[in-house]
Amino acid sequence: MQLQSIIVMATVGLATVALAHPGHNEAERRDLGVQQFKARVRRDFENCAAKREASGLNARAEARRKATLDKYRRQLKSKRDTTTVLDTSHLYTGTDVTVDSDESVVFSDSGTCVLNPEGEVGPFYVKGELIREDVRDDEEGVPIVLEAQFLDVSTCEPIEGAYWDIWNCNSTGVYSGVVSSGNGNTADTGNLDKIFLRGIQETDSDGVATFESIFPGHYSGRATHHHVVLHLDATVLSNGTLTGGTVPHIGQLFWDQSLISIVEATSPYSTNTIELTTNAEDRVFAAETEDSTSDPVFEYVYIGDDVSDGIFGWVTIAVDTTAEYTPTYSFEYTSSGGEAVSSSSSSGSGSGSGSGGAGGSGGPGSH
Ligand SMILES: *[C@@H]1O[C@H](CO)[C@@H](O)[C@H](O)[C@H]1NC(C)=O
Ligand SMILES: *[C@@H]1O[C@H](CO)[C@@H](O)[C@H](O)[C@H]1NC(C)=O
Repeated sequence: MQLQSIIVMATVGLATVALAHPGHNEAERRDLGVQQFKARVRRDFENCAAKREASGLNARAEARRKATLDKYRRQLKSKRDTTTVLDTSHLYTGTDVTVDSDESVVFSDSGTCVLNPEGEVGPFYVKGELIREDVRDDEEGVPIVLEAQFLDVSTCEPIEGAYWDIWNCNSTGVYSGVVSSGNGNTADTGNLDKIFLRGIQETDSDGVATFESIFPGHYSGRATHHHVVLHLDATVLSNGTLTGGTVPHIGQLFWDQSLISIVEATSPYSTNTIELTTNAEDRVFAAETEDSTSDPVFEYVYIGDDVSDGIFGWVTIAVDTTAEYTPTYSFEYTSSGGEAVSSSSSSGSGSGSGSGGAGGSGGPGSH
């Protein structure tokens, strides 16, 4: 398959329009007005383009994404070397499995960063997850490698040392760590102790963090998505979890509908009989794309020839680091496993503007 044919050139970006700004109290923030704020922050950020180019940030992004794709293609190839080679015919058919050209075409378009309204946290955020890159825990599904680059919306600088907290449902639409109506089988209390497809990664000096996960399945009322919370100034505990700090960004990330269709046709996604909600029908997708410059959809490329070999997706997220949100949660991962907690008001995340914490009380279809 031609690499170009599987590339979605949609401009990607996701950013906060949180209303915080140094010196502004809550009332002033409200007075400033959402539209006015968006316009100002977007202008600031557009002015950053030249600076990012000059600083080499864009060039490094291109090189890094190439290296990531190369790494996972090499792994795929060695997997073929060790297992597939044994049971496949070596009759040469003229089809070269390596797809190693034109990556610069894919990644050179990576400098665009678009502002995005703050997404909601949903009811299934679990506090206390582990810092780890591979969150698959043997969940069946299409492997994905996700890269996000976090940039400070006002300085254009990468946000180093932040922690990206991610979670998504498994291939049949169930979240780990949660026992609740609207999340698989409520009689399966063992799910409380599971942490699959949840994890936290620190951003490097380019503001970049990477996860190995699987492509999410779907459940009733929501389009296929990933949840994102960004932690600033958090402290790492000796057991590999985080405490303290602030949350300047909460959001959700999506995939192209055409790719979702391809993945959903594969097993075990295809065993899910729940009706699929499309991006076009999704309330959060609509909210996050209200602004014409917002595009919370991963750019992606196939790692191999076929979707089952995996997908590499990347996104740039511009964050207002002065914003403070309080991600609500009803479950926590602790040294004794998962626990339901009565209220997340004791999260100690400080006095957030709160608008990003919506969803904790949401009914079916809000997660
Ligand atoms: C998804 O997770 C639920 C809860 O752990 C589990 O029952 C289900 O089998 C998982 N789906 C797949 C395809 O493994
Ligand atoms: C990690 O340590 C903290 C602080 O002692 C504790 O509250 C938490 O339950 C621990 N988490 C895990 C997964 O061990």
